[in-house]
This record gives sequence, structure tokens and C-alpha cells, in this order.
Amino acid sequence: MSAVLVGLPKRLVTVEVDGQSVRVPEGQTLLEALRGQGVATPTLCYLENLAPVNACRVCVVEVAGQRTLAPACSRPVEEGMVVATDSPRVRHSRKMVLELLASSVDLSLADDEIKGWMATYGVAPERYGPPAPPAAAGERDRRRAGHHEPPDGSVAATVAQPVKIQDDLYVRDYSKCILCYKCVEACGEDAQNTFAIAVAGRGFDARIATEFDVELPDSACVYCGNCVGVCPTGALMPKSEWDLRQSGQWRPDDQQVTETICSFCGVGCPLELTVQDNRIVRVDSPLDHDITRGHLCVKGRFGFEHVQH
Ligand code: SF4
Ligand code: SF4
Ligand code: FES
Repeated sequence: MSAVLVGLPKRLVTVEVDGQSVRVPEGQTLLEALRGQGVATPTLCYLENLAPVNACRVCVVEVAGQRTLAPACSRPVEEGMVVATDSPRVRHSRKMVLELLASSVDLSLADDEIKGWMATYGVAPERYGPPAPPAAAGERDRRRAGHHEPPDGSVAATVAQPVKIQDDLYVRDYSKCILCYKCVEACGEDAQNTFAIAVAGRGFDARIATEFDVELPDSACVYCGNCVGVCPTGALMPKSEWDLRQSGQWRPDDQQVTETICSFCGVGCPLELTVQDNRIVRVDSPLDHDITRGHLCVKGRFGFEHVQH
């Protein structure tokens, strides 16, 4: 009997979006419904291949009759909902999220869409003052909950710290980390089930850490790079890309993306090879492919050097 029901169209519910009545499938999130209606909505911690964690709150919308703003990425639509996506309260809240992030995190490699939203909302992180000097290597990793020294207000507190380069496969630059949890989810139950990384600390001292803050090669990490594949700010980056950026030779305009199939095993994961100067400089997998949903293993993601010889 259940086989007969598979594929039946979903019931539609009626929702009002910015004054327009629309019919959307029951069970969709507000974000899916808004995108289906062509209403652009900023997101940072949301990704199609991960379970929503509601960490960033940049996607919030106003739902009539509800005390707090609702995260569009995870709130399901309900019959009769009245939603405002561009009210003063929504714009102010999104602006504050982006502004506080931009004042404390290096967003220089965030995608153009996020930079576009920052311009739209008039984000002005400079009003928090000049950035505080970066922390020494490992200093943020050693902070204990409840021992945070409040800043004196003359400078903006930041998460700036030296880059962690602990192997030849990928680089961790937590000065660019917005704590979106995507890497934690990809390393954990959404993909890899390795749980090599988690969020340690509290409040402004919260950071992504390995267990007991050991170096990555000594941790449970299996170097699948699924965390790298989902990071929205360039905080996690293949070493091949990082080296080129450091030497000023990362040239997106001279890159081609070639689709192929991983030949290491019979699973046949789809690969997207970013190629520059006839060399593979980065490997990803499409988020919307049934086999990988964007995730790979260490061989598919990083095992490309032999191709160049
Ligand atoms: S490379 Fe894979 S195993 Fe290692 S931290 Fe990233 S997601 Fe976890
Ligand atoms: S390292 Fe990247 S993916 Fe992980 S929490 Fe920070 S910004 Fe998000
Ligand atoms: S994108 Fe919705 S809470 Fe982050």
C-alpha cells in the first residue's frame, strides 16, 4: 500500500508572503517556499545537503502573531501564515547579524551574495572601532569558559589568529570562521560520522576544535575534506588553493570546472575538478547529486596529485 502512496503530490497550504497569497507544498520550510516564489533570502549556516542548525539567524522573517523572528531555513510553512520578509524589524535584525560578524571575522572570502546583502542592509562594521590585535597562536584555543576579559571598547574584538597549517591537504584559518556549524555537521551525522571537530568554549570564545585541541593529524580526522566543501567563508581551504592564493596566483577567471567520475573505487562519485594552468587546484562534488550530496572521501577530494605527473 505504501508503495502506491509514494510520489503522491503534497497537499498545498496557503501562506501570505509580503502581502501576496501563495500556495506552497505542505512540509516545505519557509526558505524553500520563499525561494520557490523568487523571494531572495540570505543564509549563512544553511546548506541543501545539511540539516538546518539555526546558528546564524541571518535568514529570519517576521511571522504575524509570533513574538520572535522565525528562522526561514528551518521553520515549516503552516496554513494561514502571514510572513513579512522585508519589514524594518527583519532588515534591522539581518543587518545586526551581518554587522557583528563583519566586525569580528574576516569575511573577505565570503561569496558575492553575502557581500551583496551587506551592501543592501548598509552594514558598517567600522563603527565598532578598529580591530583588536590578533590572538597569539593557540591562545583562543586555550580560553576557558567564564574567563573572557571584556574589551575596553576602544577596539572591536575579533577572532583573528594565525592560520593553522598542519598537513599538506587543507588549511584552517579561523580568523574567517563565523561559527556556522556546517563543518561540524558535515564531519558528524550529516555526512562523515567521524565527529573529529566540534564547537568548544562559550560566547565570544566559542571556536571549532578537535578533541582536546590536538593537531589535526593526531585527531580523529580522516581527511575527507567534507568540512572544506561546506565552509562558506574560506576558513577551511584545500592547501592547493591556499598556496595559490598566498602567491597571488589564484585566478578564478582562468579556471575551468570539469565534471568527471572518481576512478578510485566502484561507487563512482561525481567530481567537479577546478583546473587552472592545466593543473587540478581543487576538487568538489555537486550538492544535488544523489550519490554524494556534495560529500567525498579523502581519495576523491585530495587524491589528484598523480594526475599531474
Ligand atoms: S576532513 Fe573530514 S574527518 Fe576531518 S575534520 Fe573535516 S569533515 Fe571531519
Ligand atoms: S570553519 Fe567554516 S564551516 Fe566551520 S564553522 Fe567556521 S565558517 Fe562554518
Ligand atoms: S541560515 Fe537560517 S539560521 Fe542560519
